[in-house]
Amino acid sequence: MSDTKADKISELRERIKRCRKCPLYMHRKNPVFGEGSINSRIMFIGEAPGRNEDMIGRPFVGSAGKLLDDILSEVGLAREDIYITNTVKCRPPNNRTPYKEEIEACLPYLLEEISILSPKIIVTLGRVSGEAIRSTLGLRWRGITNERRVVKEIEYDSKKIKLLSTYHPAAALYKPELKEELRKDLGRVKKILEEEGKERRRTLYDFFT
Ligand code: URA
Ligand code: SF4
Repeated sequence: MSDTKADKISELRERIKRCRKCPLYMHRKNPVFGEGSINSRIMFIGEAPGRNEDMIGRPFVGSAGKLLDDILSEVGLAREDIYITNTVKCRPPNNRTPYKEEIEACLPYLLEEISILSPKIIVTLGRVSGEAIRSTLGLRWRGITNERRVVKEIEYDSKKIKLLSTYHPAAALYKPELKEELRKDLGRVKKILEEEGKERRRTLYDFFT
């Protein structure tokens, strides 16, 4: 019998707990796994754990996470309805941006998460995750202001996925004018999720009639 999604995710977590593939393991208090509904059709991807996340071992629990939660609820999405993870699972010292080698070492875990959970929509938050996903697909990162304008249809692991990229909520903490832009983008994400749901119901209906 094949393992369930939950089995596969817990096996992945165990490997991440023991992981020493890059020097970030030396600084971590806790590795930070993805969290949320494993049956969600939507996956958000951030950059790396910060201080609070490292202390608690959960993603987006600090001030950037609170801002994200607020905007998600404003547009009608709840944290419980989504799955949220990071590009790099251990906290870089002083919250610096992870180095290229650290991202490369950790990326296979993120790609496994995507394969296991098979989301229909991926939302990257900030440059690091947006660039990491694109580089996996052989695509160039053209900067957040360009990338956020388009919904990119990608194929990963033989599955079609809609890729959207927006600002990192931490950027909106420093530049409040980005908050409105982030809200607009997440509003679009909610609409796309609804459309995708309708499409799926239509396909099921056609299948059974
Ligand atoms: N920023 C991130 O990118 N991820 C977190 O988990 C918290 C802050
Ligand atoms: Fe392993 Fe990723 Fe942590 Fe590096 S950041 S030690 S690759 S889990």
